[in-house]
Parts: sequence; structure tokens; C-alpha cells
Amino acid sequence: MPAQPGSDPLPAGLHPVALTGVGAQLPTRVLSNDFFAARLDTSDAWIRSRTGIATRRVLAPEENLWELCLPAAREALSMAGVEPASLELIVVATSSPDHPMPSTAAWLQAHLGATRAVAFDMEAACSGFVFGLAVVSQFIRTGLYTRCLLVGADALSRFMDYEDRNTSILFGDGAGAVVVERGQVEGLHALKLATDGTRADQLVIAPDASPTDCVPRSRPQSFMRMNGREIYKFVLDTVPDQIREVCHMAGCELDDIDAFLLHQANQRILEGVATRLGVPLERVPSHLSRYGNTSAASIPIVLAEEVGAGRIKRGDTLCLSGFGAGLTWGSAIADWNGPA
Ligand code: ACO
Repeated sequence: MPAQPGSDPLPAGLHPVALTGVGAQLPTRVLSNDFFAARLDTSDAWIRSRTGIATRRVLAPEENLWELCLPAAREALSMAGVEPASLELIVVATSSPDHPMPSTAAWLQAHLGATRAVAFDMEAACSGFVFGLAVVSQFIRTGLYTRCLLVGADALSRFMDYEDRNTSILFGDGAGAVVVERGQVEGLHALKLATDGTRADQLVIAPDASPTDCVPRSRPQSFMRMNGREIYKFVLDTVPDQIREVCHMAGCELDDIDAFLLHQANQRILEGVATRLGVPLERVPSHLSRYGNTSAASIPIVLAEEVGAGRIKRGDTLCLSGFGAGLTWGSAIADWNGPA
């Protein structure tokens, strides 16, 4: 996007940020709506009409999240023409790491051979990718690092109560990766993050049993519990306004945005945001029918698919917007600077 009237130039001493490569990976195991209809009081028709989801992918018990991150990362690096050994930073945004420690990013760094890279995880639920972009871009802006990899990856199937029809039908697993580098010209025009911790209890993964004090015990199972109706309302109340705000900060109009890459939570949410913004649904790509809600992975996965299909091209202006547990929400205006 060329510099717009009203948009601030980058202050002296700060460096431009560019998104230059993208990749994605989904697990091979497919769960269809019939899987749920056979076990729960639900139906394919209900799930499709209320969420837009037909299938989702889930990791097998013996598979690791880093194993999804690895091919996504390799694809992104190859597209950007960046060698793993030249990476300086790897951030994995996830709420479902393989282990509480070490980080999924550390496993990825080792298997990628990114020997120079600092690697760590961060958690902002379904907003993780946009929050991660904020984190990674600060390192580039200040000049500390020039070549970074941001991965959004989640395996929320590990925390699903498959007897709860309110949550289990919505989520799938996946990983998406983006190379974020120091650019020649500015490619990240605006970014805004928000958190409302007073509503943290609306979407929680917590053990179902109370912890005991220093007494040996079997580990209680942690399940996701969600007030879906409240999350739905929260998104429509906050996200369109935040998208208008980042457009304003970037000095652009909604019409200047080539694609709105929204977190893939529910097709009705995508449609509601598009309607409130007055933008046509053709500019709000969706893979919900195939993958469901892949949490921090959904935005880079949708970017990878749109770039792969040639619907997003070098120089296009994107609006990225994530929202979810915390409650958190974050939006950015960025150019796609991958290969033409
Ligand atoms: N099958 C059949 N009936 C169902 C199902 C199901 N799978 N799930 C809920 N219902 C029932 C409810 O029990 C309720 O019944 P009742 O009227 O007898 O009480 C009825 O359907 C309507 O329930 P609502 O919650 O009003 O249904 P709604 O149309 O809002 O759809 C949904 C529910 C899909 C969860 C929706 O609210 C939603 O998508 N919310 C957003 C959730 C979300 O995006 N969460 C992730 C955020 S990202 C992150 O950070 C992880």
C-alpha cells in the first residue's frame, strides 16, 4: 500500500516490517459432523447452519503440535527464500503447546535447524497470531532482529470435552507460519490490540477437579468451557469497530483492503462482521467448512490458502483480525510482500 495522506511516516531509527512467506499444515485425520451426530444430541444440519462447519482436522494422540509447525515453517521459509540457519527469532503463538515446558518453539527450532534463532511460545488464544505479529514486529522495528518466523498453531482437540456439543463441534487443529522480515518499505501500517480480563471466565481451559496441596494425585483432565453466545456478541460488538480504527490509523478506507483475514470462528461471525463493515463477503475468505476453528492457526492458514490460490497477490493490502479468550482482540493492516 503506498503511503496514504494522513498516515504517519515511520519515526527515524525504526525499520520497516514485511510479510514475505507463508505456509500451513493440517492434520490428516478428518472428523465430520456425522462423528458428532452419532454421539451427541446434534446433527449435520444444525452444525452447518449455525457454524458453517462440515469437517475439521485433529491430531492423533501420538502426534505433536511441533510436527504440524515444521512443514508450515519450511513452506513459509522456502517461499521467502530464507534459510532456517539465518533465522534470528521464532515465536509460536499457541494455547495448546506439546508440553508446559519446553516451548513448542524450542522443538521447532531444533527440527528446523534454525540454530541461531531465539525461540519461545506466547499465548493469546485465538488472537495469538495478531498479538504475535505485534511482538515479532517490535524486534524488527527496533533493529534487534531482521529475520523472524511467526507461527500460529493449536491442537485444541486435546482440551475438548467430546461429550459437550457446545464446544466440541467447533474446533480443529492446525498450524500456519509467516516469515516476518525487515523490509525495504513499510508493510505493517497499523496494529491495535485489546484485552478485557473482566470477561476472562467466558472461555476457559481449566482442570475439572480441584487441585490438592502437595498430595500425589492423578492429573485432572482439563476441558474447554465456553459461553458461546457471549463470545459471539463480544466479537460483533468490538471487532468491526477495531477494524475501522486500524484502517483510520493506516490512513486507508475499507475499500482499500483487498482481503479481510478474520479469525475463523463461525461463518455467521464472518458474515456479521462483513455486514457491519459493509464489505462484500468475497473479500472475507473462509475455510470454516473444512477446518473449523483452528484458534491461533486460522489467520495464517487462510493467508496460505489465498496466496496459494493466487487470490492474494504481492502488494495486496490485508486486514488481519483475531479475537477470542481473554477476552482478547487484535487487528492489523499489512501488505503482502511475498513473491509475485
Ligand atoms: N447441536 C444442537 N444444538 C446445540 C448445539 C449443537 N452442537 N450447541 C448448542 N446447541 C443448542 C443450545 O443448547 C441452545 O439450546 P436451548 O435454546 O435449548 O438452550 C440452542 O442450541 C441455541 O444455543 P445458542 O448458544 O444460542 O446457539 P448459537 O446459534 O449462538 O450457536 C455457537 C452456538 C455456535 C457456539 C455460537 O454461539 C458461536 O459460534 N459462538 C462463538 C464461539 C467462538 O467463536 N468461540 C471461540 C473464540 S476463539 C478462542 O479464543 C478459542
